[in-house]
Amino acid sequence: MKKKLIILGATGSIGQSTLDVVRHQPDRFEIVALVGNQNIDQLAADAKEFNPQFVVTADDKKLEDLKVRLAGTNIGIGAGEGAVIEAASMPADMVMAAIVGTNGLKPTLAAIDAGTPIGLANKECLVSAGDLFMAKAKAAGVPIIPVDSEHSAIFQCIEQHNFNEIDQITLTASGGPFRTYTVEQMASVTLEQALNHPNWSMGPKVTIDSSTLMNKGLELIEAYHLFPVGLDKLKTIVHPQSIVHSYVSYIDGSVLAQLGVPSMKTPIAHAMVWPDRIKAPVERLDLAKIATLTFEEVDPVRFPCIKLARTALETGGSGPTILNAANEIAVAEFLSQRIDYVSIPVLIEQTLEQAGTQGMLKPVNNIDDVWEVDRYARKCAMELAQGLHLTIC
Ligand SMILES: NC(=O)c1ccc[n+]([C@@H]2O[C@H](COP(=O)([O-])OP(=O)(O)OC[C@H]3O[C@@H](n4cnc5c(N)ncnc54)[C@H](OP(=O)(O)O)[C@@H]3O)[C@@H](O)[C@H]2O)c1
Repeated sequence: MKKKLIILGATGSIGQSTLDVVRHQPDRFEIVALVGNQNIDQLAADAKEFNPQFVVTADDKKLEDLKVRLAGTNIGIGAGEGAVIEAASMPADMVMAAIVGTNGLKPTLAAIDAGTPIGLANKECLVSAGDLFMAKAKAAGVPIIPVDSEHSAIFQCIEQHNFNEIDQITLTASGGPFRTYTVEQMASVTLEQALNHPNWSMGPKVTIDSSTLMNKGLELIEAYHLFPVGLDKLKTIVHPQSIVHSYVSYIDGSVLAQLGVPSMKTPIAHAMVWPDRIKAPVERLDLAKIATLTFEEVDPVRFPCIKLARTALETGGSGPTILNAANEIAVAEFLSQRIDYVSIPVLIEQTLEQAGTQGMLKPVNNIDDVWEVDRYARKCAMELAQGLHLTIC
């Protein structure tokens, strides 16, 4: 029996890697639905290649274009948020949740409601609404299989063990393109430099997050929800080669790590067939060729985002929701070249501070609370960004 897959964010970096794994294992998988947004060329091409039952663009305005491109096929076509939710709720064996940002939350929750196991790439779901998200998955008996390479590594290192046997979980970070930059050099970082990650090929938002190390901050929060050992047992370390994808230290002194070349196809393939394994279309790891693996502490002065994320998690309640929304706005502002690179953490910190003074750092008891806080934080961050806008704009 082929495994039935729904891919949310099919046209993105993770979505395309997922389709490549499927392309190499055509007897193992069947695509039920593909969801994209703006990239109709890619969505239509993938629909023709994989022949799903349903193809959706999140953007209503793209519906006619998609219909024209898929004319003559018998593929169902939809557009808009309702159609995204409909696709996410279709009967399937796994949903690959790979929409970027908080836009991925509603459809992933819909997939949980439908009882479908989740391959979770979208870390913002857990950052913005982690307690509620995990409680819903637990109540529905839906497994959440991590796809983020660090969490996939930790998941693989923990599989046989209890959380109370764990001393420490360490998430590795490449350090990004500015690992060796001075404070002065960081002040004049360009968009082109920030989008040029040394090891990983990813979508623009996560590439910028990786360069500021906010990605590691978001991943700390993600790990906190996926692996309940407590925040004090979660650490980060810089490992520029991106070969050790994370490691788990046990109380008997053993340290289990997962290694591989920096390709998302390995954790994607792992999630797609867990607890089995399949051959993934990735280069094999040759440690003799790599020869040296190095590790160093994160510099909190040049990379303040991990501390911001840790503090938001310690604050609890709406803290991580505000952090996530402020970061999405800050990255979007930088990508649009309205603020400079070093303003990203400044804007996030200002938003958290303002939320505190305006009584918005508070408990979140349900998803409606999350949306209220998320909307507030985006508006607040947009207003604060005005004060940081570059004069050339
Ligand atoms: N890339 C990686 O290596 C990597 C690694 C670990 C975790 N992640 C996480 O995985 C997620 C996806 O990352 P990515 O790098 O694949 O991002 P990406 O390349 O930017 O792709 C994002 C996907 O989401 C779709 N999308 C955007 N807005 C949408 C909306 N409102 N409704 C429905 N779909 C929407 C995009 O569609 P269009 O392109 O058609 O507009 C695209 O398919 C992120 O949460 C990221 O943090 C990524």
